[in-house]
Amino acid sequence: MKVLLTGGAGYIGTHTAIALHDQGHQVVIVDNLANASQEAVKRAEQITGTSMPFYEIDVCQIDALRRVMEATKPDAIIHFAGLKAVGESVAQPLRYYDNNLNSALSLVKVMLECDVQHLVFSSSATVYGDPERLPLTEDCRIGVGITNPYGWTKYMIEQMLRDISLAEPQLAITILRYFNPVGAHPSGLIGEDPLGIPNNLMPFVAQVAGGRRPEVQVFGNDFDTVDGTGVRDYIHVSDLAAGHVAALDHSQPGVSTYNLGSGRGTSVLELIAAFEQACGHTIPYRIVGRRAGDIDSSYCDPELARRLLGWKTEHTIEDACRDSWHWQRLNPMGYISQ
Ligand code: NAD
Ligand code: UFG
Repeated sequence: MKVLLTGGAGYIGTHTAIALHDQGHQVVIVDNLANASQEAVKRAEQITGTSMPFYEIDVCQIDALRRVMEATKPDAIIHFAGLKAVGESVAQPLRYYDNNLNSALSLVKVMLECDVQHLVFSSSATVYGDPERLPLTEDCRIGVGITNPYGWTKYMIEQMLRDISLAEPQLAITILRYFNPVGAHPSGLIGEDPLGIPNNLMPFVAQVAGGRRPEVQVFGNDFDTVDGTGVRDYIHVSDLAAGHVAALDHSQPGVSTYNLGSGRGTSVLELIAAFEQACGHTIPYRIVGRRAGDIDSSYCDPELARRLLGWKTEHTIEDACRDSWHWQRLNPMGYISQ
């Protein structure tokens, strides 16, 4: 299959490009480099020993997108493109709604024009908002307790896709709700490279471990969890990438929705301890107040993806810490320092 990855120069996109290549698929990458470096695509090419056509375009620009689709004629699209920083989305809601909703709309319009039937969409556990129950299954209620515009864009795009599917039943749409992607390619050549100060726990811990930042701030130790710190379902990015390949292999008309997570919860302090094991030294941390909008716990039941896609996670949190640390050590300032 020829698969076009929007946002394919980003963290999850580059790992998925490699997984697709390893399973015999052809890859085309589209990205406006708003939160990525073309160096990441070059590294993916280096790892796979193949060339990956790259188009620097904004997916919201429908004419540019149409030209790429007509030139490359993909069989399937994975729509990673989107802005994803939760705090930034609160400060810049218009930019988030504009980019995330319009890119999805342009894409579906051009898919229909060009008769491309298969779409995989990067959604998020954030659509569950305040979890109705744990572990989260795909039929849990969504949309109650979403606390930021980023989360609402995922919720709205999911709804748009379900509505469009009713009118365009030939479309095969897979919604993947990612839990917390972490880790890096075992080569250490590609990994997560956040702009500025990382918002997410794992890249922050990695930068403290590498000496780039002085200490981890632990946002609250009074949650209703094993040690009072927030519990999340961390999934190795290589497992997540494999989930996309499985989703394409099983793509069928209508909308299919899957949780992609490990099914295991890990607290902030447990993650720091696992990273200390990986890097071989202690990681300074300080308990501070809660971050607005954070919930106690979020983890999924990944059984549906196991049963219907034949997919399950293979990597542990220890593997993810080892691979993040490898990436951090080889690329202390991310791609930019190369
Ligand atoms: P990322 O920022 O590394 O990748 C997203 C890519 O999209 C970037 O390379 C960016 O330059 C590109 N992009 C943004 N807007 C674009 C546009 N209009 N046109 C073209 N390219 C555009 O993020 P990621 O972690 O790889 O996430 C990929 C997708 O998965 C995103 O949609 C994100 O919301 C979703 N997701 C991520 C997480 C996470 O924690 N990493 C969790 C759940 C869902
Ligand atoms: N945390 C800290 N210190 C930090 C960063 C995070 O203690 O410096 C804590 C948080 O309070 C939370 C846990 O670490 O308990 C995980 O926080 P992240 O920011 O890494 O992840 P979130 O679960 O808050 O959110 C992430 C993405 C969302 C996505 C969600 C589910 O940022 O976009 O996972 O996929 F929707």
